[in-house]
Amino acid sequence: MDYRTFGRTGLQVSVVGLGAGGPSQLGVATGHSEKESIALVRRALDLGINYIDTAEAYGTEEIIGKAIRGVDRERLILSSKKGAFRKRMPVPPQEYAAGVVASLQRLGVETIDVFHVHGPQSDQYQYVHNAIVPVLQRLQQEGKIRHLAISERFPADLDHSVLQRAIADDVFDVVMVGFNILNQTARQKVFPATRAKGIATEGMFAVRRAFSNPARLRQILAELRENDEIDADSVDLTHPLAWALAESDAKTLPEVAYRFCRHEPGMHLVLTGTGNIRHLQENVNSLLSPPLPAAVTERLRRIFGRVHSVSGG
Ligand SMILES: NC(=O)c1ccc[n+]([C@@H]2O[C@H](COP(=O)([O-])OP(=O)(O)OC[C@H]3O[C@@H](n4cnc5c(N)ncnc54)[C@H](OP(=O)(O)O)[C@@H]3O)[C@@H](O)[C@H]2O)c1
Repeated sequence: MDYRTFGRTGLQVSVVGLGAGGPSQLGVATGHSEKESIALVRRALDLGINYIDTAEAYGTEEIIGKAIRGVDRERLILSSKKGAFRKRMPVPPQEYAAGVVASLQRLGVETIDVFHVHGPQSDQYQYVHNAIVPVLQRLQQEGKIRHLAISERFPADLDHSVLQRAIADDVFDVVMVGFNILNQTARQKVFPATRAKGIATEGMFAVRRAFSNPARLRQILAELRENDEIDADSVDLTHPLAWALAESDAKTLPEVAYRFCRHEPGMHLVLTGTGNIRHLQENVNSLLSPPLPAAVTERLRRIFGRVHSVSGG
């Protein structure tokens, strides 16, 4: 495993993070047993992953709690989240604080290293800033959380408007950002500012459905051609991106997708969300591989450089 400094948090994180949400939720959403999900988390730790991301909303905190029982706490960097709104109504500050304590109990730990406000929408951000940030700062003083973080609702906020405000306010040490081959807008809209301020970044949506389901990729590419966001002759809808495999040593499209994100300047770690232990192993290998050949990276940047309307979900 490779490790790096997670921006101004100073934490030493693995460049691969295990995501316990997304379509798989450690396998809970894809038909795996709790025992298998626990084995997946333990395998991730054996592979050197030290960063695990979960959330109240994923329902996977207890599984992680069971998987990490007996593991040296110093070896682990735990990340969780709670939304500031429920059914579009603001969660009162006291209730928010109680929710963080409930996450601690489900995880079976005394401190959560990185605690995110989970995916606020643009019109909810002011409440987060005014009412929830002070709660998190108090919990930080009490030692219940170590670093404040915020994740974006990528499919509904494709131009990163919430993260741009959060970065400008500069109260969050970590941001979770959507970035992938299809939607590279974070290169202009997020990474220059996070790099300037030392804010740590974790990437989500590297593969998602677009790069794990060929039919979905064809559908998205057809839409992008229709919208004139990519040139009509830039992709072959029968064998999408087959050239990227032919012109590199990557064996699969998920590998191309993870490697593209991993080596993006400004990206500290890439989350992989899987419930499949074989995929986990493959994805760690991909994320530890060298950058794709420069010509492949450049061509992917050129083809998709104008895309702004999809998340890859
Ligand atoms: N707003 C937010 O806060 C937010 C939103 C979304 C995600 N997240 C976080 O980001 C993490 C990563 O996002 P994500 O879960 O969407 O991750 P992802 O790694 O981009 O995509 C996961 C999807 O790809 C499939 N997959 C993974 N590796 C594969 C492989 N080698 N071959 C074929 N298919 C593969 C998975 O299915 P299998 O299970 O079959 O491998 C799953 O359907 C989440 O788990 C969560 O922690 C946060």
